[in-house]
Amino acid sequence: MYAPPMADASGPNPWFFDLWSHFYDAPLVQRVTYRPPQDAVLRELRAAGSQRVLDMGCGTGLLTARVRKELAPKRLLGCDFSRGMLHEAAHRDPELAWVRADAQRLPLPDAGFDAVISTEAFHWFPDPDRALREFFRVLVPNGRLMLAFVNPRAAWLSHVTQTTSRVFGEPARWPTRARLRGQIEAAGFRIESQRHVLRLPAPLLLPCVLTVASRPV
Ligand SMILES: C[S@@+](CC[C@H](N)C(=O)[O-])C[C@H]1O[C@@H](n2cnc3c(N)ncnc32)[C@H](O)[C@@H]1O
Repeated sequence: MYAPPMADASGPNPWFFDLWSHFYDAPLVQRVTYRPPQDAVLRELRAAGSQRVLDMGCGTGLLTARVRKELAPKRLLGCDFSRGMLHEAAHRDPELAWVRADAQRLPLPDAGFDAVISTEAFHWFPDPDRALREFFRVLVPNGRLMLAFVNPRAAWLSHVTQTTSRVFGEPARWPTRARLRGQIEAAGFRIESQRHVLRLPAPLLLPCVLTVASRPV
């Protein structure tokens, strides 16, 4: 596993995710909550025929390993900033390339991927605009960005969930679907589609949305 040092001490702190990595793979939660967005991203990847894929915030590597098994792209990288998560990922698939890095500062060259995928991770990145600029940079022209995570139905729900989660030490920044759209466009992408992914919990107020965008040529 290639594991560059984290950029600096003021960057995001993965303690919460290191802890979570010990029970992240609990089968029931994976089945009802995390697997549906992963299925949706796999369908999009298959349709796009992406051959160089970066899984950003890959966690324990469940989706990354499925991409390898089901789509066998030419290049596949799982990236996460948590040692604990990557430890589980490397155990799951020792053959895959796992990189420890902050989404906002990727130690990766320009235009190296034709898809950046990310499930249930984008809301944890402290500076989402900066992360989007990094995704834009590492994608080739026409490359696809696929983000699947909770987009609350209303701005006040975004606000309440962020404030509440802050109490637990790790704020979840869930934008509304419209706000995310604006953020992605501001980073230079073109939105291709946004659609709900049915899963538990709270599909009505806090639905999971898969947003697909492309880097214009
Ligand atoms: C809920 S897990 C999702 C894991 C995986 N994508 C999945 O669908 O099962 C969120 C992941 O985002 C990672 N993460 C959070 N902030 C990050 C950051 N700034 N840079 C890189 N990874 C980050 C966490 O370490 C964690 O593994």
